[in-house]
Amino acid sequence: MRTYSSNAQLHSALERFRRNGQSIAFVPTMGNLHDGHLNLVRKARSLCDVVVVSIFVNPLQFGPNEDLDAYPRTMAADKEKLFSEGVQVLYAPQVGEIYPQGMANQTLVRVPDLSETLCGSSRPGHFDGVTTVVAKLFNIVQPDIAVFGEKDFQQLSIVRKMVKDLCMPVQIVGVATTRDEDGLAKSSRNGYLSPEQRHIAPVIHQTLNSCREAIACGFDNFLQLESHARMKLLRAGLEPDYFAIRDASTLRPVTADTEEIAILAAARLGPTRLIDNVRLALNPVSDWGMLAGGR
Ligand code: PAF
Repeated sequence: MRTYSSNAQLHSALERFRRNGQSIAFVPTMGNLHDGHLNLVRKARSLCDVVVVSIFVNPLQFGPNEDLDAYPRTMAADKEKLFSEGVQVLYAPQVGEIYPQGMANQTLVRVPDLSETLCGSSRPGHFDGVTTVVAKLFNIVQPDIAVFGEKDFQQLSIVRKMVKDLCMPVQIVGVATTRDEDGLAKSSRNGYLSPEQRHIAPVIHQTLNSCREAIACGFDNFLQLESHARMKLLRAGLEPDYFAIRDASTLRPVTADTEEIAILAAARLGPTRLIDNVRLALNPVSDWGMLAGGR
């Protein structure tokens, strides 16, 4: 595995692969790699000849009171994991390589609407930071395919929209969330949890699942389901930021045209903010007979 921190060197290395006719899959990360990331890498390997992983803790997507400084940086361990997975190229730039003129006057890529709801309401500017860095990384790496986790479902939706709206020549592939045995979605931020908080955290996934089951069984009062779920999170000791039943393709409220429902939650456990989601495909004929008047 070769590691590059300069765009120019990365560019020449990737040109050599391209000249040999080899396809390139890209997995952008902020490091502190866990099994969830490694599953993205495995997917990338199954799709292309060459896998490029980036590790860059992007300051532009962190708010002023967020965990940029505390965010775990574990480069040596990350490199070993990527090497064992057969990754050929690691791109690990410094902040100055990505933002050579600083961030104050950086051109921003913003996906309106989709980036303003859910996590976007409680983390203003977060998704602008994500789309801006992902657009830059796409331009630097120029991959055929880029792989993202479905755990960050809103991020995945926003990246797909950006790629479509800006005609970016890259195919976006989503990979199912990797979970611990008790259902907790793998996340670098799980490492912040105390043993007691770690015990409580799976309630998020349990609550999402109960809500999905209720909808699948025909329960159609979504407002009631959302408020019941928020109560359940509160009672477990979580502080819900949102619990929302949405159309999976627009992240807006469910309508008669909805083909798939996404149930998304964000909640704080002490200082740690956790997110998760589950989805439910609707069968247009039978489910809409059942759910029609519910919203
Ligand atoms: O999901 C992440 O780790 C980050 O938001 C990403 C996509 C690497 C952009 O910094």
